[in-house]
Amino acid sequence: MILPIVAYGDPVLKREAAEIERDHEGLNELIDDMFESMYEASGVGLAAPQVGHSIRLFVVDGTPFAEDAEDEPDPRAEGLDGFKKVFINPIIEEESGEEWSFNEGCLSIPDIREEVYRKERIVITYYDQNWELQEETYEGFAARIIQHEYDHIEGILFTDRISPLKKRLLSKRLSNISKGDIKVLYRMKFPLRKKQRS
Ligand code: NI
Repeated sequence: MILPIVAYGDPVLKREAAEIERDHEGLNELIDDMFESMYEASGVGLAAPQVGHSIRLFVVDGTPFAEDAEDEPDPRAEGLDGFKKVFINPIIEEESGEEWSFNEGCLSIPDIREEVYRKERIVITYYDQNWELQEETYEGFAARIIQHEYDHIEGILFTDRISPLKKRLLSKRLSNISKGDIKVLYRMKFPLRKKQRS
């Protein structure tokens, strides 16, 4: 089932999400729905708060980045082919390396992209969908996608990582997003829309 993606301005996006238990009701169905909703919106990652669940869960599929790199080889895209994963109760244990900038976007903030600096390498522990504990190291785009999604479960958006000046320049567009005053090709839920169109 395709779930509406919560737009910028909804308090659920600013909340630190809670860990979940193994018997969390409807977990597998939620994971399936999150993948379906992410693909429908042409995203490479989606965090549970973006579909209204304040829990520490996100899904990623970096295949589109790998496909882009087929035409134009890019070492940052290494390992992204088939990089489809579920992260439950993740913890970024370590971030290292040089900070590098990338033009990030977010399904909750359509049509806005900004350069965001993040470190190049992460070590993350998490439970996979079979509740096996994993510890993995990622670099390049894979690390970048995970860092962005991990921010979501900490209540952080990429617009919190740009300069106050840049954010001020975006304020009108951000408020239009909250009000639903935008054109978007996937289902969204807008916190400040006065009348929900059917
Ligand atoms: Ni996002």
